[in-house]
Amino acid sequence: MKSTLQLSPEPVDDVINQAALHAEVISDLFRDFSIALPKDTLVHRDEPLARRTTLRVGGPADLWVEPSSENALTSVLELCALRRVPWFVLGRGSNLLIRDGGFRGVVISLAHGHFSRIERVEDRLEVGAGARLKTLAVEARRMGLTGLEFLEGIPGSVGGALRMNAGAMGAWMFDRVERMRCMSPEGVIRDLPVAEIEVSYRSCPLLRTHLALGATLRTHSGAVEDIRRQMDTYSRKRWDSQPNQPSAGCTFKNPSPELPAGRLIDELGLKGTRVGDAMVSDVHANFFVNLGEARASDVLALIELVRTRARQARGVELETEVEILGED
Ligand code: EPU
Repeated sequence: MKSTLQLSPEPVDDVINQAALHAEVISDLFRDFSIALPKDTLVHRDEPLARRTTLRVGGPADLWVEPSSENALTSVLELCALRRVPWFVLGRGSNLLIRDGGFRGVVISLAHGHFSRIERVEDRLEVGAGARLKTLAVEARRMGLTGLEFLEGIPGSVGGALRMNAGAMGAWMFDRVERMRCMSPEGVIRDLPVAEIEVSYRSCPLLRTHLALGATLRTHSGAVEDIRRQMDTYSRKRWDSQPNQPSAGCTFKNPSPELPAGRLIDELGLKGTRVGDAMVSDVHANFFVNLGEARASDVLALIELVRTRARQARGVELETEVEILGED
């Protein structure tokens, strides 16, 4: 008791001092951005992130920046490094859980048109990291190119799909990648053939440190009507088996192909389980939906509840597929 009374003023002071110092660094970085970045690069302070994610929870980012070119992006990374401010790239926010305190640092968005190109080169597509997967699938169909139908209903961007090797309907992103362009944290651009990129189920380790800039995708010529039919089949399957409420997609990776997390959670009888307004979907048990007013802390508590039950009842350690960022 005594030691608590003696010690408590210092840590509180430390926290206040650190927060004040951090606020100063962010103000300096904001000024750096205003001076160094081109005028068409968007920079916001205290950007609410909940509306930037499909789960719709979480606090604000100190700074939000949408670089208008690769040079502008390099400058952003250099300035963040100089000021020692952390950053991350947010795609369409479909696989992301931001904690309620938000993110102390810079969130980079590749939403500027410069990063969203979709160009045909013979039977290949050159695509930017900011392009939407839905737009990509529809464009490929319009061009009579088959192979990307499975992307139609994934609510993400090309960059996000590369980063997590997104998949659906038995295919995953890197099945179609021929080359990938990425940028190191120092701003150095690399253009790699797929054979030189390590990938696995829901993972591309290189993109934990590097930013995806775009990719060359392999496709084949096909009949537009066949492509449309395939996309319609996928879409129907998705609507039948996945909830139409705000969520971050599948919460956990499947422990194995034989043991999908959704089936496991369903078998544990957890569909409909709620913490606040976060609920295990009663349509698909690996989707945790926001019924309206959920907070990140509710979703995190629900994740822990389900993990604990899976561990205790079945000895299975569930690993989150959803990326969790920010502070409480
Ligand atoms: N199942 C249940 N109860 C449920 C949910 C599923 O019994 O509540 C059973 C299904 O009947 C099926 C099996 O579990 O026999 C697998 O379910 P599903 O076909 O829906 O596939 P999944 O493995 O749960 C994966 C991806 C999804 C992707 C679908 C469709 C993962 C973690 N999930 O889901 O990706 O959309 O296949 O191809 O790999 C995502 O990554 O965010 C995501 C949604």
